[in-house]
Amino acid sequence: MSFTDITERLEAAKKIAKTSGAMIKEKQLSELGTSFKGKSDVVTLMDLESERIIKNYLHEQFPSDNFQGEETGIERYGDGGTWIIDPIDGTNNYVHGIAGYTISIAYETEKYVPLLGVVYSPVHDDLYWAVRGRGAYRNETRITCSSQSEVKDALTIISPPLRYPHFIDTYSEMIRRMCIETGDVRDFGSAALHLSYVADGKADCYFEYGLKYHDVAAGFVIVSEAGGRLSFFEPEIKFSGNIIVTNNQLHLWYTSVVREIYQKGGSRIENEKVFL
Ligand code: IPD
Ligand code: CA
Ligand code: CA
Repeated sequence: MSFTDITERLEAAKKIAKTSGAMIKEKQLSELGTSFKGKSDVVTLMDLESERIIKNYLHEQFPSDNFQGEETGIERYGDGGTWIIDPIDGTNNYVHGIAGYTISIAYETEKYVPLLGVVYSPVHDDLYWAVRGRGAYRNETRITCSSQSEVKDALTIISPPLRYPHFIDTYSEMIRRMCIETGDVRDFGSAALHLSYVADGKADCYFEYGLKYHDVAAGFVIVSEAGGRLSFFEPEIKFSGNIIVTNNQLHLWYTSVVREIYQKGGSRIENEKVFL
C-alpha cells in the first residue's frame, strides 16, 4: 500500500476517533449523568452508535475497504484492507463514570499485521497513533517505551480474567508474583489504553488473558513502533489473545514468569483458539 494511501487512512481514523470520542464523552457527562451507572442498555446503544459513526465515515472515504467491528462483526465491501474497530474499549469504565475508556481503530491488509493504529482517550484528550515503520505518537509528541531494567521498580498492568473463571487461580498466582517482585501493579480498565501506556513509557509491562483482536490490534502497532516487545502466554504460538507486552529490557523476565505459571496452572481451555 502506498505512503499516500496509508496516510489518508491514518488521518481519517484520527479524525473519526476524535469525533466519536467527543460524542460519547458528551453523552456520559451530560444526558446520562450519575444515573448512568448500571444502565447496560444505554451503554450498548452507545457502543453501537460509536461503531456506526466510525464505520459510516470510513466507508464513505474508502468504499472498497472492509470492516471487523466488535459490535457488528465482519462486513465485506471490496478488495481493500480491513478496519478493526473497538468502538468503546473499557465500557465498564464508561458505565461507572471513570476516565479510562478509549476508541480503538486499526487497519490491515494482511491478517494480524495491522499497518496503522489509533487509540483515543476522550477524557484525557490523548490520541495515541502509529503507522508501521513511522514511529509512535501521543498527539504530536513522539513516544517510546521506558528504559526501566529493574524488576523491583517496574510498573505492571494486569487485568483480571473475569470472563474466564477456570483461569482465576492461575492468574492469582501471577498477580501474587507481580505484587511481590515488581514495583507496583495497576489496572486501568482498557486494553487499548494499557498498550498505549506501555508505548508511552508510563508502564513497563501489560499482560492479560483472553483478549480479542479488536481490543489489541491498534495498540499492537503503537507499542511495537514505540520499541516495545510482544509475546504470548503460549511460547509455541504465533498469535493469541493471551498477551505479554513490555519494554525491551524486561521482556525476558516477564515472559519467563508468566509462562512458567501458565504452564504449571494446567488450565488451558481445550480447543483454545488464536483469539478466544
Ligand atoms: C475490555 C477492556 C478491559 C479488558 C477486557 C476487555 P470492552 O473491553 O479492554 O480492559 O480487561 O478483557 O474485554 O469489553 O470494554 O470493549
Ligand atoms: Ca474491548
Ligand atoms: Ca468494546
